[in-house]
Amino acid sequence: MRRKMAAGNWKMNGLRASLAELGLLASKHPAPVCEVLICPPATLLGWASEALLQSEIRLGGQDCHSEKSGAHTGDVSAAMLADAGASHVILGHSERRADHGESSDMVAAKARTAHMAGLTAVICVGETEAERDAGTTLSVIGAQLQGSLPATATGTNTIIAYEPVWAIGTGRTPTLSQIAEVHDFLRAELSGRHGAEAEAFRLLYGGSVKPSNAAEIFAVSNVDGALVGGASLKASDFGAIIDALDAA
Ligand code: PGA
Repeated sequence: MRRKMAAGNWKMNGLRASLAELGLLASKHPAPVCEVLICPPATLLGWASEALLQSEIRLGGQDCHSEKSGAHTGDVSAAMLADAGASHVILGHSERRADHGESSDMVAAKARTAHMAGLTAVICVGETEAERDAGTTLSVIGAQLQGSLPATATGTNTIIAYEPVWAIGTGRTPTLSQIAEVHDFLRAELSGRHGAEAEAFRLLYGGSVKPSNAAEIFAVSNVDGALVGGASLKASDFGAIIDALDAA
């Protein structure tokens, strides 16, 4: 059985005052059935891990460098994230692929380094609106998946997030059958690559998940949880999504 996961991606949002939302979330959800992960900006990780010492909420980074250490001004290493209290790291988010030109090869190199540092990688894939309109969604996602998974990937150290680029931060979501098609496809691709172990990989849906649509998305085949951006910033909204997942 795969443990469901509610993951929050704060992106470039959050100052120390935002830790109050984490405290609220932890006190309202002392023992969630699903695994709860929050990925705040790297600057908050150390503070957040102190604030969550008594909590089951896990912490993650939003990116890491592919090298273990060295002359890379401004970058953060996987070991630094782990040292600051992270157990996970999001890699290959479409905003990084678009804003920083990250290729799937680069994502795979980062994921390998993250695995070596003991982190679980949350690897993102997803098509643009033009790719969906052109009917190439599955081939784009298949290529991203194969290119972004390093040889070190297992069902326990790697989670896949399907995030259609056109659904991120737009309030638009794919139909439930479109989500099912991609998630079933991801499971099949993983099984071609990993055999029976494919069943252990958790597949998250991301893109405009909110309290009002969470329950129907969590009922979709092969959806093991969500990667949530905007709605993860407020404990009340993210808490409602955790409740929907626990009830699914
Ligand atoms: P959103 O972002 O929930 O604000 O659409 C999701 C994400 O980018 O991970």
